[in-house]
Amino acid sequence: MSAIKVSNLRDNLSFGARVEGVTFDTLADPAVRDELNRVFEQRGMIVFENVESSAKMQVTLSKVFGPLKDHPTKSTTRTAEDEAAGVIDMHYIPNPNDPYAGEGLVEIDGKLLARYSPWHFDHCYNDELNRAGVLRAPINAPEGGRTGFMDGIELYKQFPPELRERLESLNIIYTLDTRLSKMRFGVNFKPISEHASTKDLLKEVAIFPRAMHPAVWTRRTGEKVLHVGPWMAVGIEHHEDSAGEAFFDEVCHEIVRRGEGSSAYWHDWKPTDMVIWDNWRMLHAVEGCDAKYERQTIRTTIQGDYGLGYFEDGKKIGEVYREVA
Ligand SMILES: [Fe+2]
Repeated sequence: MSAIKVSNLRDNLSFGARVEGVTFDTLADPAVRDELNRVFEQRGMIVFENVESSAKMQVTLSKVFGPLKDHPTKSTTRTAEDEAAGVIDMHYIPNPNDPYAGEGLVEIDGKLLARYSPWHFDHCYNDELNRAGVLRAPINAPEGGRTGFMDGIELYKQFPPELRERLESLNIIYTLDTRLSKMRFGVNFKPISEHASTKDLLKEVAIFPRAMHPAVWTRRTGEKVLHVGPWMAVGIEHHEDSAGEAFFDEVCHEIVRRGEGSSAYWHDWKPTDMVIWDNWRMLHAVEGCDAKYERQTIRTTIQGDYGLGYFEDGKKIGEVYREVA
């Protein structure tokens, strides 16, 4: 008998599951591992509750779903304890003299927010798309800082048909340039300042070719997935003209609107939560919080590829780095 308890994340959502009972012992049981993979494939994301908050547990749980992948960029911070496994530590400690200096800030509804991430999928700027991400938040802000998730299968079903039909055969162009001041489509915020770490990133931006991913793709199981992340997107392949850009802006604003409504699930973190999401299917975002708050999220990345992304000039990621070595 299974030692874990699985339930729907929310009754009015067609995606997402909640799982209790994850321990090193239960994860050692092949039947539990099979069940977790089945639930993940069906529901697109799982919130694990009351889990030991440690790197060891995060890596053990992540490996239930596949081998880990290192980050494709060199400028992303790894945790010292498990560098090889690509555990990414996003720890923001406010500067006691001026918590707003050096932060990437945006203004939304008159509020100044740090750590804001618009809707996106991870590694969109890469040709290879990781299977999943696993996240925990040992330190969260007392207000704000929630992570939002939307399901591409549901988005496809709900999207206005006239937009969806035009999107079906199109590829979206993405870059590694994460600067919010450079975002052009579906912008619902006012950029105020760039994060200080952007300088290192820009050296890599200069050598990365643009990456293409389909706006809509079909899963092995037959469902169509609408998978467009407004963040880091710079347009539609072969339609980088004013008509193409106006259409793409409409698409991105539609995604942002749905993210503010009942299509999205916004997770309010407890230190004992871990969340896995299917990066081929889901979009995610961070609502941001006041820069005066400390926040730490730690991510592992599950390897894999859906095989549909490619770099504009046909290069593979290894070649990109060999050229600059
Ligand atoms: Fe992300």
